[in-house]
Amino acid sequence: MKWKADFEDFLSGRTEGEVFEKTALHSLWKLMSRRAITTVDFPISTGKEGNVFRATSEAGPVAVKIYRLNTATFRNIAQYLQYDGLTDVKKNRRNAIHLWAQKEFSNLTRLSRAGVRVPEPIDHEGTVIVMEYIGSEETPAPMLKNARIKKPQAMEIWTAMKRDMARMYHRAGLVHADLSEYNVLYHEEPVIIDVGQTVKATHPLADVFLRRDIGNLTRFFSRFFTVSAEETYEHVLKEESCDT
Ligand SMILES: Nc1ncnc2c1ncn2[C@@H]1O[C@H](COP(=O)(O)OP(=O)(O)OP(=O)(O)O)[C@@H](O)[C@H]1O
Ligand SMILES: [Mg+2]
Repeated sequence: MKWKADFEDFLSGRTEGEVFEKTALHSLWKLMSRRAITTVDFPISTGKEGNVFRATSEAGPVAVKIYRLNTATFRNIAQYLQYDGLTDVKKNRRNAIHLWAQKEFSNLTRLSRAGVRVPEPIDHEGTVIVMEYIGSEETPAPMLKNARIKKPQAMEIWTAMKRDMARMYHRAGLVHADLSEYNVLYHEEPVIIDVGQTVKATHPLADVFLRRDIGNLTRFFSRFFTVSAEETYEHVLKEESCDT
């Protein structure tokens, strides 16, 4: 196993307690044993839920998301999982994070099959997800928030995003529930990420989440052109918007 020298330090410095560290290392070890990854190269991001690294597989670069045990987020996770009929998660935090990671992986699979542009899911183990790396070799793609885009590109991106929101809703039967310029990467086209909290379109709060997602994006795009949240909502609810 090849590690970049500071990898373990980085991981332990950013995680809470030994249990998670061991869990993450154990999962990474398994992924390496079955050659889903060969090296972990550098950290891309340390977020509230997890750390994302660029890694390498035999087929080229990949992204690895490692979920962390985090009290604040854990409460949300327990709630979301209960809505999905998975109870008793409070008893076993590690188990809950496993479920959460699995849920993100299966959402990626479902979304990719529905034609939504998300990172292609590759493998998962425990609290770790391996997926397509979005970016150029050494430079990960920026979040939409930080991407240097001009009005004509913004228009193209918005068109693709409306189509993807419709596909997500109608073809995958899902609502992202944390969609904003922070959870979209821009690399030649918009790529939707961070689908751990994504809910079924039948979830009791799905409509609230969908309106909130649309509100976030229309607020962002209104810096480029006039855009209405209400019209966008109507547009996304039409099935034919999957093909436009
Ligand atoms: N497939 C990927 N390819 C390249 N970079 C990625 C990929 N997935 C995630 N990232 C980077 O990692 C960051 C965090 O990922 P993500 O949003 O999924 O995790 P998170 O735990 O919700 O973090 P945050 O709290 O920052 O939202 C992203 O903003 C992006 O910069
Ligand atoms: Mg995020």
